[in-house]
Amino acid sequence: MMRGLSWVWPAVLLMLVLVGGAASEGSIAGSTSRYVRRLAESVDLPYDSPYFAVPNGINPPQQVHLTQGDYDGRAVIVSYVTVKLSKPKVRYGKTEGDHPWQAKGYTTQYKFYNYTSGYIHHVIISNLEYDTKYFYKVGTEEEGAREFFFTTPPAPGPDAPYTFGVIGDLGQTFDSADTLEHYLQSYGQTMLFLGDLAYQDNYPLHYQVRFDTWSRFVERSAAYQPFIWTTGNHELDYVPEIGETVPFKPFNHRFPTPYWASNSTSPQWYSIRRGPATIIVLSSYSAYGKYTPQYVFLLAALKAVDRKVTPWLIILVHSPWYNSYNYHYMEGETMRVIFEPFIVAAKVDVVFAGHVHAYERSFPVSNIKYNITNGICTPQIDPSAPTYITIGDGGNIEGLAANYTEPQPSYSAFREASFGHGLFDIKNKTTAVWTWHRNQDGEAVSADSVVILNKVHS
Ligand SMILES: [Fe+2]
Repeated sequence: MMRGLSWVWPAVLLMLVLVGGAASEGSIAGSTSRYVRRLAESVDLPYDSPYFAVPNGINPPQQVHLTQGDYDGRAVIVSYVTVKLSKPKVRYGKTEGDHPWQAKGYTTQYKFYNYTSGYIHHVIISNLEYDTKYFYKVGTEEEGAREFFFTTPPAPGPDAPYTFGVIGDLGQTFDSADTLEHYLQSYGQTMLFLGDLAYQDNYPLHYQVRFDTWSRFVERSAAYQPFIWTTGNHELDYVPEIGETVPFKPFNHRFPTPYWASNSTSPQWYSIRRGPATIIVLSSYSAYGKYTPQYVFLLAALKAVDRKVTPWLIILVHSPWYNSYNYHYMEGETMRVIFEPFIVAAKVDVVFAGHVHAYERSFPVSNIKYNITNGICTPQIDPSAPTYITIGDGGNIEGLAANYTEPQPSYSAFREASFGHGLFDIKNKTTAVWTWHRNQDGEAVSADSVVILNKVHS
């Protein structure tokens, strides 16, 4: 996952345009890919898959993953699981094999019907230097210590190039493995994960062991760069018929988010700044109507954004607000109606969503002019509106969504039902390049790409 060379991007942009691979956001006609593929359900990797292997040792740390641990990127939360009780501790330093500093954390455990989790440890490492590589070690030598590394982001600022990976609805199938392997070949520096992680709830009793296998599967990426978590419907784990009535209980035990750092009161919605971007994470499956905590949070979070410091403003949400597939149609509509006027006023650049197991990119559109009597109920091209990207095509057990509404709505710029991942490559304060990579192609190939100009600085 090497960072791309910043001096080559103008040449790459030129190539994209020359070969017709880069769409213009001002286009007026969308397209539906005729790429044909099998529509069989994806198959989960077997329990004895090497992707799920437990590390060596008498009580080895496993399921290691990172997320940002503060508002500005100077802290990291290291999470891992041990089967037997162990002290939550991470040693770290700037040289491989040398860990002069240590941070202590806390341990949690949960029960879900007849399942009891391992010991889940969360350790916040704070006061890190920006743009610095750190090596860290979890576990004790006696139990089977393991070393990983991460690189902190540049300080929030307008001229810091940065590349975000984007994956949604990953699951743990053979297709999921293809998606993650492709992403590992990219130069993505931080993962924007759009919800629906393990699909444990596709198994009887929401079989929580599938969370353990999934966390071992994604460790190859998530132990080396932060995953910015969004919660989806598959994280709800709300099953009153077996007495499980606390929404998001397993997710919240396993995948902490730095919600407190943005004055949020819930792990399900929060914001962070990372390099040139402010990222606001929303929850489709928590209350969002007027006066609710999430509503109040979003308005305050938008107000707090300083585009001179972080020119790019990105929203992550699970259920898409613009979706022209015949799957989950209109599920995001009520949230769109409530929040869209605010995000257009704030000139949000991009809204990423998952949920629909396919890919779709919109033109910059809004649908906020309708007032019941004026009849303006069609999305309009709007220079202040974000680009909407649906990318719930990580590869999960439920398979692809391959049935489109026809004709393609005027707001839909490109759509294709293939598994893949995306890269949001911020070049500077005015320009970002979005590329979508389908699993059938080599990582260097993009099946959809567009130059996105900043809503405030261009
Ligand atoms: Fe979903």
